[in-house]
Amino acid sequence: MAEIQIKNVAKNFGGYQALHDIDLTISDQEFMVLLGASGCGKTTLLRIVAGLETATTGEVWINGRRVDHLPPKERGIAMVFQNYAVFPHLTVFENIGFGLRMQKMPNDEVKRRVERCASLMHIEQLLKRYSGELSGGQRQRVAVARALAMEPDVILMDEPLSNLDALLRLEMRAELKGVLADSKTTAIYVTHDQVEAMSLADRISVMHQGRIVQAASPIEVYRNPAAEFVAGFIGNPPMNFLRAEAAGAGKWSVAGQTVDGPAASGPLQYAIRPEDLRLSDQGLPARVKLVEPLGAHLQVTCDVDGTAIRAVLDSDLTLKPGDAIHLAPQPDRVRWFDPNTTKAVQ
Ligand SMILES: Nc1ncnc2c1ncn2[C@@H]1O[C@H](COP(=O)(O)OP(=O)(O)OP(=O)(O)O)[C@@H](O)[C@H]1O
Ligand SMILES: [Mg+2]
Repeated sequence: MAEIQIKNVAKNFGGYQALHDIDLTISDQEFMVLLGASGCGKTTLLRIVAGLETATTGEVWINGRRVDHLPPKERGIAMVFQNYAVFPHLTVFENIGFGLRMQKMPNDEVKRRVERCASLMHIEQLLKRYSGELSGGQRQRVAVARALAMEPDVILMDEPLSNLDALLRLEMRAELKGVLADSKTTAIYVTHDQVEAMSLADRISVMHQGRIVQAASPIEVYRNPAAEFVAGFIGNPPMNFLRAEAAGAGKWSVAGQTVDGPAASGPLQYAIRPEDLRLSDQGLPARVKLVEPLGAHLQVTCDVDGTAIRAVLDSDLTLKPGDAIHLAPQPDRVRWFDPNTTKAVQ
């Protein structure tokens, strides 16, 4: 049982505030992904949980025990670092068993754990090799195996797949998910890759400028972004935004069309995902600017009332730049944001 509670954590680096008001509870055995752009504070937050960095204010609790005054090795945590820190002059076996040896574990138990974790990560045939002779992908597997060998309550991973090529990344992603589910470990996993986040996470915490903007399941973050930043950050191509002017109670004017919307005072941002737009006789009047056939879909960029809007349409359609079309949004997929607070409006 390892629940992690991060309570009101802030971090200041000599005047620069890297983290603000972080409040997050990660349930026992949950797979939590921290997702955000470079510099948003992901590694800093992970290092605070690990005990490699101290929070300026706030508390970290693991398993109902306050740990922020404990050294890293007393927290029941194993960490896979962003640059995977594998010792090149040690063999794969010695690397995976390194932490266990430090704990003075008996040789036969070290051997059992090393072999088990090496086999989980499909590197059992490399155990005698020096880690300096391995490819980046193999070294990354060693780093993950080393963390798993500790049989930690909590595993923290900082971009553990970042040095792999696209295919290996995909393969390792699936393996990691299976391995961690089997090991009943609570995991915090850092990435700036939204596809990786969506595919691995039980919940995603979307970070922006040192804050958690939303923490929810992948589908919730995708369908119901809590803020404009999340809407624009998750999804490729990103969500489209149009300005909506108030046009009477619950009515809004969007690109010259009157649509139903929330009972709020305007203006608001009207938001719709590219795949939630359809070619139609009615809807938003659009002028085609760019047509990109992507095989499975046709990605079309249009001008709608002076704003560039992307639609992901049926690949069989024949459209060309200059065509005047209408794009009909799937009504239940439209979202609204307040441009002042940038928060979602129901
Ligand atoms: N030791 C430090 N001293 C001063 N500033 C720091 C220190 N460590 C991190 N920062 C700053 O804090 C912010 C957050 O850094 P952090 O490494 O947590 O970002 P990140 O989200 O992990 O980014 P990336 O995706 O590039 O790894 C950055 O602006 C960084 O420059
Ligand atoms: Mg980082």
